[in-house]
Amino acid sequence: MTRRTVRIAMNGVTGRMGHRQHLVRSILALREQGGLDLGDGEILWPEPVLVGRREPALRALAERHGLTEWSTDLDAVLADDSVDIYFDAQVTSARAEAITKAIRAGKHIYTEKPTAGDLAGALALARLATEHGVKHGVVQDKLFLPGLLKLKRLIDGGFFGEILSVRGEFGYWVFEGDWQDAQRPSWNYRAQDGGGIVVDMFPHWEYVLHELFGRVTSVTAQVATHVPRRWDEQGKPYEATADDAAYGIFQLEGGAIAQINSSWTVRVNRDELVEFQVDGTHGSAVAGLRNCRVQHRSATPKPVWNPDIPATEPFRDQWQEVPDNAEFDNGFKAQWELFLRHVVLDEPYHWDLLAGARGVQLAELGLRSAAEGRRLDVPEVGL
Ligand SMILES: NC(=O)c1ccc[n+]([C@@H]2O[C@H](COP(=O)([O-])OP(=O)(O)OC[C@H]3O[C@@H](n4cnc5c(N)ncnc54)[C@H](O)[C@@H]3O)[C@@H](O)[C@H]2O)c1
Repeated sequence: MTRRTVRIAMNGVTGRMGHRQHLVRSILALREQGGLDLGDGEILWPEPVLVGRREPALRALAERHGLTEWSTDLDAVLADDSVDIYFDAQVTSARAEAITKAIRAGKHIYTEKPTAGDLAGALALARLATEHGVKHGVVQDKLFLPGLLKLKRLIDGGFFGEILSVRGEFGYWVFEGDWQDAQRPSWNYRAQDGGGIVVDMFPHWEYVLHELFGRVTSVTAQVATHVPRRWDEQGKPYEATADDAAYGIFQLEGGAIAQINSSWTVRVNRDELVEFQVDGTHGSAVAGLRNCRVQHRSATPKPVWNPDIPATEPFRDQWQEVPDNAEFDNGFKAQWELFLRHVVLDEPYHWDLLAGARGVQLAELGLRSAAEGRRLDVPEVGL
């Protein structure tokens, strides 16, 4: 076995996503399994260089994970020719500037979504990366969730017949931060800091809908800031200026209609934090993060509306669990592996900065639809 090292500058790894999903569950998990097997007797060994603003936090993080390389000087790290990839999980508002620098320094780019604050900025990144000939990828983790992989399997197997509609329900109660700590960072609730549930979640809905059911061709959205006052990490009250709930309707290429509620102000009465119900002429499915249940047309009950009597059938029991039939790895790690193979082996990879720009576009148009109170077409974007 020969070992090939890939050096990855990881920026924003003291944050929630950067630390847990990308550093621990992806890059360190890859090292724990002995590296990424590239075939032909070659192993790829990811070497993270932690980058951030706060020296004590970075040093502590490096020590905790037995890592030796960390820096608060992004420019110096980008000037280091031995660094191959720049990864960004910073707050959204800091992302475009850092990625621009990294592309100019000739680094391959892997980044969290949304890639930029607006479509123009997102497309500029995609164009710049293409001009500089670097490889680029954007996190689209939901595609790698077991529940959605099972849903994709059902679609590919022709289970649904004609798909008519998709109804998504995403959300949970995010505490205000006064009498119980909030479980999400406060910048998410300030529009001026890149917050808002549309900017956060519509990029996910774009690629989920696009890859499973068809490109989004129009959007109608209504948004709300249901909880206008929250308390930050220091316990100080602040005005929530960003939307904390979004009610969206998406027309899809091919004719299906998707309707997705996204909310940080809803209490969960579902099996999972996100669930999609797909109804087709031949069958229906409800997919969550991990599980997926189906009901075929041959086993569909025939309820009759009668509010005078109790429900006559146990509707939720009439669905059948889709078996795993495979082992599912962490979705973030699975996508990292594909990106690393793209970088070192030139394997195909289409979840790139242009795909990321489509997500930013849908968020931008969703917010505009809400502000103007009308349905908006979603034109195809290109470089
Ligand atoms: N793929 C997903 O499912 C998913 C889920 C949540 C968040 N995200 C994305 O990941 C990114 C990070 O989100 P998070 O929830 O981890 O946020 P977080 O606040 O926990 O972490 C943000 C990181 O950015 C750093 N940072 C850099 N500049 C900053 C600044 N000016 N102010 C504050 N922090 C700054 C922080 O030190 C920290 O390391 C966001 O872009 C978000 O949209 C993706």
